[in-house]
Amino acid sequence: MNKTIIITGGAGFIGSHVVRLFVKKYPHYTIVNLDALTYAGNLENLKDIENSPNYIFEKANIVDAAAVQTLFEKYQPDGVIHLAAESHVDRSITSPLDFVYTNVIGTVNLLNAAKDLWAPRPSEGAWRGRFHHVSTDEVYGALGETGFFTEETKYDPHSPYSASKASSDHFVAAYADTYGLPVVITNCSNNYGPNHFPEKLIPLMIHNIINNKPLPVYGDGKYTRDWLYVIDHARAIDLVFHEGVTGGKYNVGGFNEWKNIDLVNLLCRQMDEKLRRPEGTSAQLITFVKDRPGHDLRYAIDATRISKELGWSPSVTFEEGLSKTIDWYLENKEWLAHVTSGDYQQYYQQQYEKK
Ligand code: NAD
Ligand code: TYD
Repeated sequence: MNKTIIITGGAGFIGSHVVRLFVKKYPHYTIVNLDALTYAGNLENLKDIENSPNYIFEKANIVDAAAVQTLFEKYQPDGVIHLAAESHVDRSITSPLDFVYTNVIGTVNLLNAAKDLWAPRPSEGAWRGRFHHVSTDEVYGALGETGFFTEETKYDPHSPYSASKASSDHFVAAYADTYGLPVVITNCSNNYGPNHFPEKLIPLMIHNIINNKPLPVYGDGKYTRDWLYVIDHARAIDLVFHEGVTGGKYNVGGFNEWKNIDLVNLLCRQMDEKLRRPEGTSAQLITFVKDRPGHDLRYAIDATRISKELGWSPSVTFEEGLSKTIDWYLENKEWLAHVTSGDYQQYYQQQYEKK
């Protein structure tokens, strides 16, 4: 069936992989990438598909309700996959309001536009459309040494980022409960892979190893995250968007927990090998720095529901995914140079002055 789908945040890290997957896998769909091109959005991420006949880019800010309404009227989408967000915890600590505007108000603007477009007309009985909200496991708060987040885990966000995402999840669920809007929500663990902006742990470390800069590990480095290759997240979004039960919520994770310090050491070993540097060279750059305030100890996802109900599982091991990721950064130094100019330099400088 022909469909028009608006994907928000399609110029960002995960969004660009979702846009590529949909443009290539569904040539009969029209994919509209709605993105404000903030510091994290980069159309270079989509160079390979930008001329595809079923792809359209619209520069717009989801905080602007009128702009969002206009685009919904123009394209009459059958579905929305909502990824646009401010996504970096450290930035949320210094500028929480930006997260409220984009993650909360922006999401409500999209929900309103979808509600106006898809609500049943007097002659029709049922809602049209599907609103897929892409969220994070960080809404559940932090785990101790054991246990997993399930879809039933109580929300307990700690950072302004996770609080804003939790709020957006609640609004999405409230629009389903109150108005009947057909929604699905996915809550995913930490992603890694090509096109990841180098302010997040893995691409920052790769960038710094290439440039012989210190590798800043927060606190004692024992904080634990569950890492998933970005293309496996995009596959999960495709499955849930098409086959997930309406009103359903699905956790997505890699069954792949790493303490930050162990992950950085693995990355150092792989980078030494690929850069043909003597073993141990990159690890000498590891520097323990001041901890992040309110740092969540551990995230771990129980992804049983999406595995059992929709047959999803990760397609690559962490070692393979990490190796592919490093290769991508080594082959795309120009991309890295572009995104680490301008705002990045200023941001990076400020981060280090604080420590
Ligand atoms: P990102 O920061 O790389 O990209 C965000 C994109 O949204 C950018 O292209 C940016 O230009 C766009 N954007 C930001 N504000 C906007 C606005 N006001 N209007 C329109 N566009 C705007 O983010 P990401 O890491 O790709 O994350 C995408 C989504 O997935 C987010 O909702 C995030 O919460 C969620 N998520 C991320 C991870 C992760 O590990 N990165 C894990 C789970 C869930
Ligand atoms: P990050 O990539 O920012 O993702 P999130 O905070 O959303 O999980 O950070 C991942 C982990 O790595 C987290 O425990 C914080 C830590 N970290 C560092 O130790 N040093 C760094 O420079 C960064 C950016 C993160």
